[in-house]
Amino acid sequence: MLTVRRSEAPLGAEILGVDLSRNPDEAVFREIVDLFHEHEVIFFRNQQLTPDQHVAFSKRFGELEHHVRKDCCRPGYPELFVVSNVLENGRPIGTRDAGLFWHSDLCYMSEPSRCSVFYAREVPHDDQGRPLGDTMFASATAAYAALPDATKLRLAGRNAVQSYAKGYYRDRQSGPRPPLTDEQQRRTPDIEHPVVRTHPATGRKCLFANEGYTSRIAGLDAAESDALLAQLFAHVTRPEFVYRHQWRVGDLLIWDNCSTQHRAVMDYELPRRRLMERATLRGTVPF
Ligand code: SIN
Repeated sequence: MLTVRRSEAPLGAEILGVDLSRNPDEAVFREIVDLFHEHEVIFFRNQQLTPDQHVAFSKRFGELEHHVRKDCCRPGYPELFVVSNVLENGRPIGTRDAGLFWHSDLCYMSEPSRCSVFYAREVPHDDQGRPLGDTMFASATAAYAALPDATKLRLAGRNAVQSYAKGYYRDRQSGPRPPLTDEQQRRTPDIEHPVVRTHPATGRKCLFANEGYTSRIAGLDAAESDALLAQLFAHVTRPEFVYRHQWRVGDLLIWDNCSTQHRAVMDYELPRRRLMERATLRGTVPF
C-alpha cells in the first residue's frame, strides 16, 4: 500500500515512498493509476529522473503525443514539451508562456489528452526563498457536480467547439506568436466535443469547457453561447474546486486532462529560471 497525503481541495494528493527512476512494478503501477483516477492530480516529490526515465514512466500510461510545436520540444525527445523561460544563446529553449489561462491539454484534438506528466527541473524562488511559478488545478468533476440542476439540463447533450487557434493567438506576455503553419493548422482544426463528458475510467461527469480553448457552444446563438461559457468558466475555477501546487525541484506531477483544468501562474522572470518538461498522453474520443 502506498502512502498518500491528500490536499485539502477536492483534488490533489502526494504519493510517498516511490522512486520512479526504478520504474515501479506492475502492482505498484496499478495502485498509482487508481490513485490518479481518485485524486485527479497526484505528485511525487524528490524524483531524480533522466529524460529517458521520464519518458519510460510516462509511456506506461499509454501512447505519448508529439506536440504540434516541434520547436518547443527537448532536442532528441519529441515526446518532451519544454515549458521554460530559459534562453540558450539568446534563444528560448521551450515555450515561456504556456498555459497562462485555464485549459486542459490538447482538448482541441479528436482524442484529447488523457493526462500530462510534468517534471520540475528548475523552480524560481523569491528573495525569501518562497517558490514562484505555481500551477493551479481545478476539478471539473467537483465543478460539474455543484452546477445547478437547471444548468445541467441546459448542457445535457450539447457540444462545445474547442479551438487551438483561440488559445494560440490570445494575448501573450512574450508578444505575438508567428502564424500557425499550414501543417499545424491541418493538425488542429476546430472540433466539437460534448460539453459534459464522462470520464472513461471512473464514469464521473466532467465539465469539458475551458476559457483557453473553448470558443462556443454549438447550436446556441453567439450571445447565448458567450454568456453561458462565461458562467461556466467562472464556475469551474471557483476557489473551492482548486488545488494550487507549489513546485519543488524533482516534483513529478500527473494531472488528468479529462477531469481537471489548469493554469500556470506567471509571477517570476529572468534571472529567476523555471524549467519544466511535460510528457502528454493520448486519450480517447470523448463521450
Ligand atoms: C502547461 O499548461 O502545460 C504548463 C503549466 C505550467 O507551466 O505550470
